[in-house]
Amino acid sequence: EIYEQPGLIRALTKYYFDGEGQETLANISNLKPGRFLVNACGTANYAGLVIKDYIENFNRIPCQVDLASEFRYRNPLILKDDIGLFVSQSGETADTLAAQNLCKQSGIKTLSIVNVEGSTLYRDCDHNLLIRAGIEIGVASTKAFTQQALTGRLLSHALGDGVEKKKLKDKFNLLATRIDELLSRAEDLKSIAESIHNYKGFFYTGRGSLFPVALEGALKLKEIAYVHAEGYASGELKHGPIALIDEEMVNIALVAPELLDKTISNVEEIKARKGIIVVIGPENDANSKRVSDYFFPLNYEGLGELGAVYCNVANQILAYYMARFKGTDIDKPRNLAKSVTVE
Ligand code: M6R
Repeated sequence: EIYEQPGLIRALTKYYFDGEGQETLANISNLKPGRFLVNACGTANYAGLVIKDYIENFNRIPCQVDLASEFRYRNPLILKDDIGLFVSQSGETADTLAAQNLCKQSGIKTLSIVNVEGSTLYRDCDHNLLIRAGIEIGVASTKAFTQQALTGRLLSHALGDGVEKKKLKDKFNLLATRIDELLSRAEDLKSIAESIHNYKGFFYTGRGSLFPVALEGALKLKEIAYVHAEGYASGELKHGPIALIDEEMVNIALVAPELLDKTISNVEEIKARKGIIVVIGPENDANSKRVSDYFFPLNYEGLGELGAVYCNVANQILAYYMARFKGTDIDKPRNLAKSVTVE
C-alpha cells in the first residue's frame, strides 16, 4: 500500500484537475465557511492537522482540529457559519460519526474527506470529497493519510487559494515523482532501521507542517513495531521530555527547508544529551548531515507545502522495516481493528 502512493497521487490529480472531480470541487467552492471544525481520529486526525495548515495558510479560514472522541463530549462551541469537516478512511469510525451527528444536529453544513464511497459518513454528510485511495487493508493507515492530506489541499484550492491550477497540478505530479524516487532508496531506510531498531525509545520531532508528520511517524512505529515512540514539536522537547534523553533514545528529526536552523539547534540539544540522531532532511544541508548519526536525504525542491506528505513516506518505510526487524505482524498488528466502529 505504501508503494501504491505515487500511482494514487497521479490518479487523484487527474480526477480532480481534469476529470469528474472538477465538478465536485466547483460545488465545494460555493461554501462560505466562517470556520472549519475538523474532526477525525488517529492517522486521519493527523491528516486533519496538515489540512488545517493548508486552509489557514492559503485561505485564512480558521480551522479547529479535534479528536472526535473529545469533541463529541466536550460541549463544543458550534457557530452558525461553521462547517464540520470530517476526515476518515473507512467512514465508519464511531467517534467521527458521532461528531458529524452533533454538527448536523446543530444545524451546520458537513463535509467529508473520505475513502469509502457509500459509507455512513459519506451518506450523512452534505458534501463529500473522495480521496480515491482504493481499498486499504493494512490496519496501519498509509496511503489514506497521503490522499487525505492532498484532498485537503484540493479543498483549499477550491475555496480560492490564489494559486494557478496548472502550477498546483504540476506540484502534485512532482510529488508523485519524488515519492517514486524516495521508494527506490528504501534500502537506505532499511539499513537505518537495522541499526536502530533495538533502542529503548523514539522521539519524532518536527516543526510547522512536519509536526503532524512527527505525530504520524510515531503512531506508525508504535502501531506496527510495538516500540515506544512519541511525536513532539521540535521546540517543545526542552519543556520536559528532554529529561528522557540518553544514549538509549533515538531522535528521528524531521527537517524541512523552513525553520531549518531552529530545528537543527533543537537536534543539537538532544545530541548534547547523547541521544542517537536520525535526520530525515534536505539533501544539501550540511548541518543536517553534521548533526546526524544517520542521515536520509530528501529533495524538497519545488514541493512547497506538499513536502510534509513526501517526508511522511520516509517515516512509513522506516516503520515498516523496524517492524520487519522486530518480527511483528505488520499488516495485522495486535490489539487493533482496521475500523473502530465502537466507542
Ligand atoms: O477509518 P478512519 O480513518 O476513520 O480511522 C481512524 C483511525 O482509527 C485510524 O487512522 C487509525 O489510527 C490507524 N490504525 C492508524 O494507522
